[in-house]
Amino acid sequence: MLEPLARIGRDPATGGYVRDAWSEADMELREWFAGEAARRGLDLREDRNGNLWAWWGDPAARPGVVTGSHLDSVRQGGAYDGPLGVVSAFAALDRLKNRGVTPARPVGVVCFTDEEGARFGVPCMGSRLLTGAIKPDRALALTDDDGDTLADVMARAGRKPYAIGRDDETLATVGTFVELHVEQGRALVDQERPVGVASAIWPHGRWRIDFRGRADHAGTTRLADRDDPMLPFARMVLAARAGAERRGVVATVGKVHVSPGNANAIPGRVSAWLDARGADERDVRQLVAELAEGMDVKEESWTPVVDFDAALRDRLARVAGGDTPAPILPTGAGHDAGIMAAAGVPAGMLFVRNPTGVSHSPDEHAEQADCEAGVVALAHVLEDLCR
Ligand code: GLV
Ligand code: MN
Ligand code: MN
Ligand code: MN
Repeated sequence: MLEPLARIGRDPATGGYVRDAWSEADMELREWFAGEAARRGLDLREDRNGNLWAWWGDPAARPGVVTGSHLDSVRQGGAYDGPLGVVSAFAALDRLKNRGVTPARPVGVVCFTDEEGARFGVPCMGSRLLTGAIKPDRALALTDDDGDTLADVMARAGRKPYAIGRDDETLATVGTFVELHVEQGRALVDQERPVGVASAIWPHGRWRIDFRGRADHAGTTRLADRDDPMLPFARMVLAARAGAERRGVVATVGKVHVSPGNANAIPGRVSAWLDARGADERDVRQLVAELAEGMDVKEESWTPVVDFDAALRDRLARVAGGDTPAPILPTGAGHDAGIMAAAGVPAGMLFVRNPTGVSHSPDEHAEQADCEAGVVALAHVLEDLCR
């Protein structure tokens, strides 16, 4: 089932995927989702925030059990982060149908919009809007690298940007949410288990830091006369690494804009994006506060720690694990399941082993047999939760 998705948004030069929200690739992925829903006779809905829902049964009668993930990607990402959860959701439904199961509750497959925030900088946009975790005005005004706002690109995609925002009606259809995801580390490899269950998501955030200087000629400007913003930028990157090591957290500068961007000119401005995460919110906050001293820092997103519902977590581990309960793992990656949990929806996650341990890169992988184990585990979980 992943096969028809494999060509969408693929960069042939690298094998990586570029699937920005509301891009052409995203529209193709949405069509694929609609086709999968139609093929199964599911009731397809797109909510005001662009999230897609495919229902087996009517959630107006009784809140449903929902599973799914996202189809957008980080830039140059792998084939599994997001799509594996959506494909597995449809496959688990098929499995239930083939076994003649008639669930007592409606079952939904969801594809959340713009989970990665690759284009506008804020991750989990679809679930944040749905739950009211981000204000529509702020979301609509966010710009991409071309200067287009979210409002612009949604309008161009034929959506109604001014209708976005907290959607209680849709939220009320979600009784429980379970997201299956490729593991983004090596814990399941180490434990020799194909499927795990999430315990918690680390608190994490993104900050934009702007360094301003004076653009000038690279050959004729004496070193003493320069105001080069690249130098404080470089010091910040090293300080982030040292501070993270000291505090036992992680910090990453993965995106930088240098303008005007001439090899033969001192830059006038460097904009950097800092991503910092850790088990303890205070450590992350302190690291950023220390780095931010005297700098122009803007918080783009902050996601507090998520501790998944313990009863649901243990139930998932029992049902998904077979003879021995599935291992329970914390993660440093953000997910829509975390946003839903923070909004009070009982939510949990299943992870599928990734032999490379690598993610947000084309090297991300999952073996066919482990994907199948994930689908079987998810089907058991859905059947159990639908009782
Ligand atoms: C999204 O995948 C994130 O954790 O940044
Ligand atoms: Mn991701
Ligand atoms: Mn993901
Ligand atoms: Mn994520």
